[in-house]
This record gives sequence, structure tokens and C-alpha cells, in this order.
Amino acid sequence: MNPWVLSYEGFDPASERLREALCTLGNGRFATRGATPDGELRTPGTYVAGCYDRLDSTVAGQRVTNEDLVNLPDWLPLTFATQGSDWFRPERADLLDYRQKLDMRHGILYRALRWRDGSGRVTAIRQRRLVSMADPRLAALETIFTAENWSGPLRVRATLDGRVTNSGVARYRELRGDHLTGHDTGDQNGLTWLTAVTRSSQITVALASRTDAAFPAREMIREGGRIGTDHVLDLAQGEPATLTKTVALVTSRDCAIRDARSTAIRAVRMARPFDALAAPHAAAWERLWQRARVEMDAPDLAQIVHLHVFHLLQTLSPHTADLDVGVPARGLHGEAYRGHVFWDELFVLPWLNLRFPETSLALLRYRYRRLPEAHAAARDAGYDGAMFPWQSGSDGREETPTSHLNPASGRWLPDGSHLQRHVGLAIAYNVWQYYLATGSMPLWCAELLIEIARFFASLAVLDPASGRYEIRGVMGPDEYHERYPGASSPGLANNAYTNVMTVWLLLRARDTLDLLPELAASARERARWDDITRRMRVDFHDGVISQFTGYADLLELDWARYRGVRRLDRALEADGDDVNRYRAAKQADTLMLCYLLTSDELVGILNRLGYPVEPGLIPRMVGYYLDRTSHGSTLSAVVHAWVLSRSDRARSWQYFAEALFSDIKDVQHGTTAEGIHLGAMAGTLDLLERCYLGLEIHRDGLHLNPLLPDRLGVLSMPIRFRGSELFIDADHRQARINGVAGPTFTSEQGDTIMAATGDLGRRIAHHRERLGLTVEQVAERADISPGYLQYLEEQPGTPTAEAIYRLAGALETITEDLLGGGVDRPPGRGRAKAAPTLESLDRDECLKLIEPGGIGRVAFNGSHGPTVLPVNYKLHHGSIVFRTASGGPMDQDLRTGLEGVEIKVGFEVDRIDEAQREGWSVLIQGPAHHISPDELPEIADVTPWAGGERHLYVRIVPHQITGRRIHHL
Ligand code: BGC
Repeated sequence: MNPWVLSYEGFDPASERLREALCTLGNGRFATRGATPDGELRTPGTYVAGCYDRLDSTVAGQRVTNEDLVNLPDWLPLTFATQGSDWFRPERADLLDYRQKLDMRHGILYRALRWRDGSGRVTAIRQRRLVSMADPRLAALETIFTAENWSGPLRVRATLDGRVTNSGVARYRELRGDHLTGHDTGDQNGLTWLTAVTRSSQITVALASRTDAAFPAREMIREGGRIGTDHVLDLAQGEPATLTKTVALVTSRDCAIRDARSTAIRAVRMARPFDALAAPHAAAWERLWQRARVEMDAPDLAQIVHLHVFHLLQTLSPHTADLDVGVPARGLHGEAYRGHVFWDELFVLPWLNLRFPETSLALLRYRYRRLPEAHAAARDAGYDGAMFPWQSGSDGREETPTSHLNPASGRWLPDGSHLQRHVGLAIAYNVWQYYLATGSMPLWCAELLIEIARFFASLAVLDPASGRYEIRGVMGPDEYHERYPGASSPGLANNAYTNVMTVWLLLRARDTLDLLPELAASARERARWDDITRRMRVDFHDGVISQFTGYADLLELDWARYRGVRRLDRALEADGDDVNRYRAAKQADTLMLCYLLTSDELVGILNRLGYPVEPGLIPRMVGYYLDRTSHGSTLSAVVHAWVLSRSDRARSWQYFAEALFSDIKDVQHGTTAEGIHLGAMAGTLDLLERCYLGLEIHRDGLHLNPLLPDRLGVLSMPIRFRGSELFIDADHRQARINGVAGPTFTSEQGDTIMAATGDLGRRIAHHRERLGLTVEQVAERADISPGYLQYLEEQPGTPTAEAIYRLAGALETITEDLLGGGVDRPPGRGRAKAAPTLESLDRDECLKLIEPGGIGRVAFNGSHGPTVLPVNYKLHHGSIVFRTASGGPMDQDLRTGLEGVEIKVGFEVDRIDEAQREGWSVLIQGPAHHISPDELPEIADVTPWAGGERHLYVRIVPHQITGRRIHHL
């Protein structure tokens, strides 16, 4: 199995929608589902991050407003026909062969098929598709046709189709999805274009297309909202003919545009041919993979891990850092949840923080930019601070629908899930995690955290009877519990997750104020926060923390009856029952506390609140809630894999595997086709480092406590932690950071050497090749992992002193040599390049080279024979000036004893760049004389070469200046 390639054999209409989602190509700015260019039963989808539109609809007699991530015009359509045949449609065609491959390393989707038409003509078709990671406006589809047993004309039709709607999710079909209007099409010098405008957000979307083929277009196809060209390719048997369709997608929200249409046309005109587009695209991917690399010795798992990294980076790439967008729960891969932003970033940012912190920061900024809306929402609801919406879209207003369809019963039901106020806790948690991972807390991030803390503090109300603070009218992450059984309005009291995390947040708010005192909070406010952190209410029952007040009064569900049903809420409602009545959870809720907090932190908070923590509380809770969870969200498996990781490794692995297979095997039965589950994908990546490498970030640094499952022989990955590049790898014996073994490691220990990056890798590779050794052999000699050695050869790395020492030994050299210090050795020992040339320099060039000052050498006839000494010189009014010790050897030797008679000296400065193998030298000859004290004020300060007292100033007046430059040394 190739861990970089996802392969499909055969055309299967039933699984086509799942393939489309999994084969989506994107670049963090826009993405296009992997729909066929020619099928009938396709669900094409192209989505630009942040391109939303709102529409009113009437469902079940009620007017509702929904904001959608808009499905944009389809750039893919391309079909073909032989003489007398219909247009090719895979669903109806006689297919002799059909394959599809997603190359995740280079971001290319391949398709190869052989088609036999009604007259027995067999045509092979090969396609390559990309959405450029190098130029985020461009995408291309190359098609190569080969007539296998015939010659003659083949008609090819390539179109842009603006007639698409948001109709990719069956449950939403009663809602309006016709977001695009004002379609316009045209052609310009062989290019075609299509524009449309989103109905309410008024975003202009422009697609321009160029079709390159040996045979020019014969006919223009232009009909309402669609434009394209017909080509006739004259195929000769066995000779491939290529047609490439290149498109540019521009919206009026983009930067650096004139207007969307003319910019799209210009961009596609400038676009290079397919191979020349693919090269920088692959190089951009290579750079991403270098940072995002995860290595393990289980190819089947590696393939899924690559798939998760791939889709995460296609949704959130460095291009995203340039946009004003959040983390869409279902990627840019489909229309489920309408492209909305929930709390899923909680599962995504920890992984990004250690690799792409600039992207994390941009995603936090999406929240910060919507702070005014969050303030207004809090104010309107009677609270302080910032109340972020459960579902967020364009401007940060609450986008949670007020009703949703239960497909199992066909009924529209009221939706109270906007009461999941805990979304704010996730944002604040991410701010803190960003700070821990990068060491940086920008002022605006701190403000975000403090404003959220203010909101949660105002949500907490002191109950005089119990003397405890309570939070009422909220929902926890478990969406099965929206209201008390029979209650007319939604909302629960004292959701433990919300209450405990509020305490955690107020403690972090205090830390943040200590970090940035300019964000002053009044003593009264601080005192109230402190009081809440000591008197927040948490309920308990049966020796576990209760999910909320009154949970213990709920009924036990007949689990046997609903075995295997993930969406119990829908099943029970269809049965005329209500999931709110039962101790049944969709996903981890109370156990989220164990996901986000260490057991010490959780116990510390409970103790602070004055609750006695009985031994075994955490494992008891894990068992209790696991037995009552249906895993109706893919996030559930991620959390449970973590909470079981130290107590029940086999079960932890089961949940990890379930999270891994969530999308590739569509474990939620049909939901992946509507978009990938980005939180679960990123969650699995986070689990690898957090759960199995045991990598935890605390304020005092990075801690490593690996516990690898048997399935993983080794696991390695580079990370960026507080500005340092670290390479972590572990096997069942030990873990290493930058090649050095140890069960734990704290980077603040400070024995990291910053080597001249890149050069170190070159030097290692050079010595390895000199000795004729493989990477594995050197790694074994140095007792470091081969993965790390290869990483060092390819990447700028910061190995520890110990790793360098061991490598030097393995490479039969010395550490200074590897680090490029060349200590105690004369320069110029590097191998010379062939055919060096010497170029004479004129006086001006020479003066220019030595003008900055520095170290030069003075040569003169000393009392003990010819002498050369280094001095620190400056150029002053065309003369060389340096200092030496009064009465020292040079003082004596440079004195003639005769007034006005000076000694002639030579003065030389040179520079040899061993890495570049070039250099220059300048020779100055002329008399040296002592500078009289009355001239001294004029002379700028010259620092002595070797420190110490040097009171004597000497000047060399150049009579002759010559120099050479050496090329190609
Ligand atoms: C989950 C939420 C999640 C949302 C978007 C829901 O099914 O219950 O926790 O935020 O999906 O992924």
C-alpha cells in the first residue's frame, strides 16, 4: 500500500458522493469536490472560504433565515463524444477500465478510464486535476485522449456552469439554495468567463477558463448561466492528444484585484501550461509536508494520517492566514452544517499551533474581528463581555437554525442548540494553547480571552441559599440534552463542563492580566472572579460528576433496543419519545474535562471549589459516561481515545481507530459525503502527538511521556515549539527530541545549539557520502533515529549538543566541522571549484570593500624580522587607522626615531567565503605614523583588536592600493 495515494478501482455510482468528498482538492482559499467532470449523478461543489450568503425560506409554515457557504459555479464540466455516440457519461458508458487516484503528497487527482462506444471504438482517457497551492486562484484539469483501435474525430465539450445551487444535503432541500443570481457570460480572445453575484451578500464571483488543445475551438456554447467551447480533436490511432482546461476563480472579496472578472481573465491568461502549474504547486505541497510530516511504520495507518493532514491543509493552509475565515466544521468539502464555524477549532488549533502558528493566529483573529457582535449578543442577553455564537458565519451573528429536520420522522423540530455557550470556552482555551505553544500572547488575543472570561463570570450567579455560583440556561457539548424532560424552554443548569471550564478560564484570565497588566481589570472584578473560582457549583451522583443538575433524575435507556444507533435523538423522536429523558449522550460532555485538563488540573479545581475528590473519580467517570454514549458525533471517538489512553490501551486504540476511519469508511453512514469531519480529522493528528507521544505543553515547557500502541513501531514528527524546530521520535524503548533520548524533556533546559541551518544538513550529507554510508548506517552509528537524520539532512534543524557530538563521531569528524565553525583551523581548506579566475580590482572597488572596517593585517619589517599582526581598523579620510599598545612591540617597531620619517608597511584585508567558494583580498602599501594627540578628537572611536588598553593610534596612508577578487574558488 502506498501511504501517499488513495486509490479507487471501478466506477460505483452509489459511493460516488463519498469519493467526491474524499477526493476534494483545495488550497485553503477554495476547494472543489472530486466530482467527475462528465457524470450525470454528480454533486459538484466549489466553495471559497468565507463566501457566505443568507436566504429566507419557508418550512413547516415558518419563515427561517439561513446563511450558507455558497456553492460556486462549477468549473469542471468536460465531456466528449465519438462520431454518432452520445456525450460520454460514466453511468451509462461501457467502461473497460476505471481508476481514480488521489496523490496526497503532490495534491493531484488522477483518473484513468477506457471507454468502448457503441461501434466498438475504444478510447483511453487519462486526467490530472489540481487546485493550485502555489497560486490560490488557479485550478486545472488536463485530459489526454488516446484512440486505441480507431482514428477519427472526437468532439470535446468544456464548459463553466453557473446554474449550480446549494443542494448537496438532502435534509436541507426544503430550504432555498439558489444563492447565485445575475449570471453573465462571455468570451475574450479565446477565453471564456462567467460571473454571478450572491443574492444578499452581493459578492461577485468570476470564473475564467482557458482551453489549450492542438485543435482550436470550433464552436462557442452559450446558454443561460453556462458557457463553453466545443473542440474537435482529430485522433490518430495510438497517438495521445491533450486538452487542458485552466481556470481562475476570483471573488470581489479578494485582495489585489481590479474587479473580479477582469482579474480572473488576466490570471487565467497568465497561467502556465499544466506541467508548469504542477511544479510550483507540488513544491508548495512539499514545503507544507515538511512541516506537517508524521512518520510511522504502519503504511495503512500512515495513509489515513496523510489523508487527514491533506484535508486539514486543504481547508486551512498558509493561504488561509491571509483571509478572514474560521474553521468550517465540514471543511470546504460539502454543504453539511452550511460551512458554519462551531467549537471544532478546539480540536484543530492544537495541531496547527505546533506547525502553522500563523494560520492558528489568523483563525483566532476571525473570532477577534467578531468581538463587537459577541459584545452586542452578550449585552442583548443581559450579560457582560463577549458571547460568541454556537454557529458562526460571515459577520459573527448567531447562525444556528431555529429548527431542524429529523430525517427519521420527517418532522421539523425546534432547535435550542444555540445555548451551547461553551463555544466561548473553546476559543479562550485555544488562545491559551496558542500562547503555550508559541510563547506569544498578542494583546488582542489577551483581550479576546478576557472578554470571554467576563462573559462567563457574568453568567455565573450566586445562589445565596447554597453559597455557590450557578450557571443556568445553557447546554453542554452533548446535544441530546437540550432541556429538562417536559420543560417548555431549552437550557440546563450547571453543566459540569461549562462550570469547571469557567473556573479554569477565570484562572487563566488572572494569569493573562499578570502577563499584560495594561489590560487592567478592577480589583472588584478580580475579586469576583477569584470568588467564582472557589465557589462554583458542581453536582455529583453515584460517585461521579453529574453532567448537569438533575442528571441523576433521568431514566436509564434500554440500550439493547437501540444498539448500534448513533443518532438516538432522531430514533427516539421518530418513536414518539424524547432523548432528553434519558441518561444517554451523543458525545463526550463531562469527559471533555478530562480531554482538556490534566487529572492534576481537574482535581486541583475541584479541591479549590471545596469538593472532596474521592480516589478513582476519573476512571469511574470514564466508565460511567462511556457506557451511556452513542457516539453520534465523530468528535466522540477522539475524546474517548484520549481519556482511555492511560487506563485501557486496547479500548483507547479502538476509539482512535474509529476516529481514523470516521471519514474514509464513512462510519456515520452518509455524512462524509456531505463534507469531511475536520475536527475529528485534526483530532486524530492531535491524538498521535498528545496521546501516543505523550507530548504535553505546560507553562514550564514541553513534556514528553510516550506510550506507543503496539501497532505503531515508531512515530516521529517535527514540531515548532516557542521558536525552536524540534524533531520528536519515539519507539517502544524511548523517545528522543532532536536525537537525544530521555523520557521527558523540557526545552527550557537550554542545551539546544542553533546551528547554521541548512548548512548543517549539507555537511552531514557530505560526510556521509564521503564515507559511503547510508542514512540508516550513520543513524545506527550515532544512535539516533534514521528519520531524524534524514530530517536534519533536508531541513533546517536545531539538534542538541549531544546529538551533534554523536553525529560527528559517526561521521568521523569533529563537532566544529559539522557546525561549520572551523575553529582553530586556517581558512581555505575547502575543495576548490574547477577553473578559478582572478579579477583585479581598481582602487575604488578596493576602498569600497574595506570601507566597513574590521580585521586587517599589518605587515612590516620588525626588529625580529618580517612581522604580520592582526589589527582592528577603520577607514578614516582614505587612511587606515588602528590602535595598539603604547610602548608595545608594534609601537617600537613602527618608530623610526626621526621626525617626519615614516616606516613603510603593508596592510591586507581579505574575505574567503568557503561556502560560496569565492573571496577577495585588498593590499595597501604606504607609510605608517603615529597620530598626534591633537588629531585624536577627529578620529572616530576604533575598538582595539584584542581588547585591553591600547592608547596609541596609528595611521597608514595608502600610496598604493591593489586587490583581487577570486571567482569559482
Ligand atoms: C457535534 C458538535 C460539532 C458539530 C460540527 C455536531 O454533530 O455534536 O459538537 O461541533 O457537529 O462538527
